[in-house]
Amino acid sequence: MVSSVCLAELGHSVDLIEIDDAKVASLNSGRVPIYEEGLEEMLVKHIDHCLKVTPDYDNICNTDATFVCVGTPSLSDGSADLSMIKSASSSIGEALLGSRKYHVVVVKSTVPPGTTEKVVIPEILENRHLKNQDIGFAMNPEFLREGRAIKDFMKPDRIIIGSADDKAGDFIESVYRGLNAPMIRTGLTEAEMVKYASNAFLATKISFSNEVGNICKDLGIDVYEVMKGVGMDHRINQYFLNAGAGFGGSCFPKDVSALIHLAEDLDEDPILLKSVMAINELQPKRLVDLLEKRIGHLSGKRVAVLGLAFKDNTDDVRASRSIYVISELKRRGARVAAYDPKANNSMQSILSDVDYCQNAAEALNNADACLIMTEWPEFSALDREFDRMKTKVIIEGRRILSCAGFEGICW
Ligand SMILES: NC(=O)c1ccc[n+]([C@@H]2O[C@H](COP(=O)([O-])OP(=O)(O)OC[C@H]3O[C@@H](n4cnc5c(N)ncnc54)[C@H](O)[C@@H]3O)[C@@H](O)[C@H]2O)c1
Repeated sequence: MVSSVCLAELGHSVDLIEIDDAKVASLNSGRVPIYEEGLEEMLVKHIDHCLKVTPDYDNICNTDATFVCVGTPSLSDGSADLSMIKSASSSIGEALLGSRKYHVVVVKSTVPPGTTEKVVIPEILENRHLKNQDIGFAMNPEFLREGRAIKDFMKPDRIIIGSADDKAGDFIESVYRGLNAPMIRTGLTEAEMVKYASNAFLATKISFSNEVGNICKDLGIDVYEVMKGVGMDHRINQYFLNAGAGFGGSCFPKDVSALIHLAEDLDEDPILLKSVMAINELQPKRLVDLLEKRIGHLSGKRVAVLGLAFKDNTDDVRASRSIYVISELKRRGARVAAYDPKANNSMQSILSDVDYCQNAAEALNNADACLIMTEWPEFSALDREFDRMKTKVIIEGRRILSCAGFEGICW
């Protein structure tokens, strides 16, 4: 969705092909089925003009390029599920059959190195007897952050264009000509690896900060003051050094897991990446342990959980730390009252038996404790609402109430 509306914004004529009929209907009526700031306005601006939403692949042969943006979730062993990549590639191959026009297939989904060469190209060329047709292949990973997706797409730090040959790469460069960003040309597998390595590095910064934060808490040191000092070193920078409940979302956990799986398949032992994941998995448990230290056995206690989305400004709860925290609270017998400004509905489809509230005050009513799990700005403004609690035990998984000196998971 984001790629389509932003490519339309850049002046291209775009067909957004989506196999989920409900999403097609929603988009065609100008409604975005997720919460992402600015996306709906941009959809409404372009729909029926330069943006068409359709379940059909038929018109691909009349276009210059196809961007493959389908999901690549984790399989149970941590590897990337490439079934949607395969099926989209197969549909593209079918749609291009008989076409005489040059066409570039661009993989934008995050895929393990080698996927474009070993899965996408064979699926399109060999299975569909398209060998003699003029098709180019490119890999152009996406680095946008949910909640800031449009800004990130339109103002990227860099654009990575991996291609099998210059013609395909030159074409993709021309697609992005309206953007003021450095373009880095690479091979297909290098582009795929840039994305995995970037996400693994960012996840490492977070787990590193959490480990330092855990040590700091034991020593009574404020990890935020420490990391402010650390981040002023230009070789390190200040971003992604926020200690807390760990990373969630649709990208870091799955991409680091996929890289670990890939390494192990090569008989490597990715010690660092495994530790990054291990620290991340422990943080939610540490938070619940800390709560138990403060209020004793959790059985029968009412715990308010503020924030369900994996970060602010989105309704995405994929791999959100709140899932693990709420599950652990319930396992220990607590009653959970939860509230998120945007993600109550998405969480409801994952966790039932939770009292979903309409606002923070309702969740805090008579609560024995409160855990803050998402850095929504409205939570930092909470004050008198905490007076509704039975006992005022408030623990932050994200540092947003710092001025009042609340206890946090690492501070
Ligand atoms: N979400 C992010 O912030 C983000 C950022 C950078 C990269 N990525 C990568 O982008 C990819 C997509 O992520 P997402 O979060 O948008 O996933 P998503 O699951 O939310 O969206 C993918 C869409 O593709 C549709 N789809 C599946 N198979 C299809 C097919 N054969 N033809 C047409 N449509 C099909 C699905 O119905 C779904 O609506 C992933 O590889 C992800 O790692 C995501």
